[in-house]
Amino acid sequence: MSNGNKIYIEYCSSCHKADFSGMPQAGIPSLKDIGKRKDSLYVASIVSQGKGMMTGFPQLTNDQKGAVVAFLLGKEKSSALTESRPKKAVSPYVFDGYTRFLDKNGYPAVKPPWGQLTAVNLNTGKIVWQKVLGEYKELTAKGIPQTGADNYGGAVVTKGGLVFIAATKDERIRAFDKSTGKLLWEAELPACGFATPSVYESHGKQYLVVACGGTKLGAKKGDSYVAFAL
Ligand code: HEC
Repeated sequence: MSNGNKIYIEYCSSCHKADFSGMPQAGIPSLKDIGKRKDSLYVASIVSQGKGMMTGFPQLTNDQKGAVVAFLLGKEKSSALTESRPKKAVSPYVFDGYTRFLDKNGYPAVKPPWGQLTAVNLNTGKIVWQKVLGEYKELTAKGIPQTGADNYGGAVVTKGGLVFIAATKDERIRAFDKSTGKLLWEAELPACGFATPSVYESHGKQYLVVACGGTKLGAKKGDSYVAFAL
């Protein structure tokens, strides 16, 4: 196995897949024809510095970066066997990405709830309350009880006892009562807020801000920060 292949399997294939197909639905591009579209300078700069959701790989030496770039572009010199890039990077074992267990309609193939917000008393380790978080609007519209949904992003708690969380794929931000878990408020966002909100004060007024970048889980892309005055 060539060096570039090994590095690809270890550092890249979890996202871009062993067969280079990526996970377009999760915003991870295919690298299948990267050699036709881009040159080695471009690929090398992305490996060093990253791009968008992809972090760079400062831990790789220049030789390692060179090897993986040459492998991707089918330009490895080391052996006659790898003159052009193989169709699939080879490895006895491959991490195949964060594959989800979904039913034929694309919903989680397990019993709901599919997403929850849980308050734990850290002194006792006991769950104080637990609420279903997120929904699939089309299921709710059919009268199916709120299922909850995958969520990416933490919660913030204010001194006044409010828990704010976005995180869900339904493009909403919500406030819960810290002690009871009662839903107190919710608002529509321009795109999913897969991020932890932040609370800040300016000129004596308290605000809440959340980054609405969307993109994950097949959600639409967003590029705004949305702030609310409390
Ligand atoms: C954690 C997931 C992840 C890993 C690991 C990862 N990438 Fe990426 N990669 C991405 C995402 C997401 C993008 C799209 C970035 C954007 O355009 O916003 C991307 C984009 C790229 C692009 C640009 C593709 C194009 O069409 O312009 C190249 C080249 C690339 N990655 C190479 C690599 C290489 C080489 C490695 C291993 C050293 C690697 N990636 C590891 C997620 C990843």
